Amino acid sequence: MSFSQKILHWYSENKRDLPWRHTTDPYKIWLSEIMLQQTRVAQGTPYYFSFLEHFPTVEDLANASEEKVLKLWQGLGYYSRARNLHATAKIISEKYKGEFPSNYKELLALKGVGDYTASAIASICFNLPEPVVDGNVYRVLARYFGIDTPINSTEGIAQFKTLAREVMDPTNMRDYNQGIMEFGAIQCAPQKPYCLHCPLNDSCASLSANKIHLLPVKLKKTKVRNRYFNYIIPIDDHKRTVLNQRKGKGIWQHLYEFPLVELEHIGNLKEVRSKIPEEFAMAAIDQIQLFNEDVVIHKLSHQHIHTQFWIVNTTNQIAKGIPISKLEDYPVPVLIADFIKAFKNSYF
Ligand code: ADE
Repeated sequence: MSFSQKILHWYSENKRDLPWRHTTDPYKIWLSEIMLQQTRVAQGTPYYFSFLEHFPTVEDLANASEEKVLKLWQGLGYYSRARNLHATAKIISEKYKGEFPSNYKELLALKGVGDYTASAIASICFNLPEPVVDGNVYRVLARYFGIDTPINSTEGIAQFKTLAREVMDPTNMRDYNQGIMEFGAIQCAPQKPYCLHCPLNDSCASLSANKIHLLPVKLKKTKVRNRYFNYIIPIDDHKRTVLNQRKGKGIWQHLYEFPLVELEHIGNLKEVRSKIPEEFAMAAIDQIQLFNEDVVIHKLSHQHIHTQFWIVNTTNQIAKGIPISKLEDYPVPVLIADFIKAFKNSYF
């Protein structure tokens, strides 16, 4: 049996019964594939159902408010993906009259759809001969063929794509692509692959060279940037507070957060107090309190956000304040959502 035949056979025996495996509807496949780039199956599945419940069709997604889309995406991270999803839904709805294009090139032109997603939709929905290369596929190919080119180098990306095309089964792309990804997720797992019971163990290059644990090779990421956030939570006599929408480029674009004082280091009371906007006037120093004794460190892929939350009982009325009871209506970063939950448990 060839490599692709073995993958297909393994898939037919071992595939998980996942909700998006009962459809070839491009809208549903697109949603599931964008979500699965973000998270594992177990965590992504509730989001998939929730999106389909609120937006049964691509038109429903197109017609939704950005705020609602971001709220439903809350917790998945990389919020630009949610905004791209929304933008693409509008294009499909308007330019394509609700029908996804059925070829790789036009799919690739959609916002937020890269080589991986275009190949996944083309193959899973239209059975087109486009090989997918995701993290699972890199691992399977690097190990089976014993390739140590870094998978995140320009050379590696081209080399693995070419190889993926050479070894695929062009006659059954729907199952082959899902099969090789599933094989990587379950059988050829990152840490403890099940080589003893693997259908490819008699011909796997890195198994015979005892190099399974060394592959795939990945170049070190750029250095992590440390940032120091101090969130000010002003509260007036009417239990109103303030949320601002993040503008511009950078993390959490368009999500809401409390007024932010960013410093070059972890801030102390005096320093933070001096930077609180005058509109949140306080009569006395004891009207500012640090909520979290330990600094909360929120880790993103390239940034570690060291965060402190300061409760400020302001003597002013907050003119366009948000009632504390309404805070959960807004799309916020998980860091803020966790704070809101803890804050409400301890104060209200
Ligand atoms: N990972 C992401 N998409 C997948 C799919 N369609 N099948 C298996 N694993 C996946």
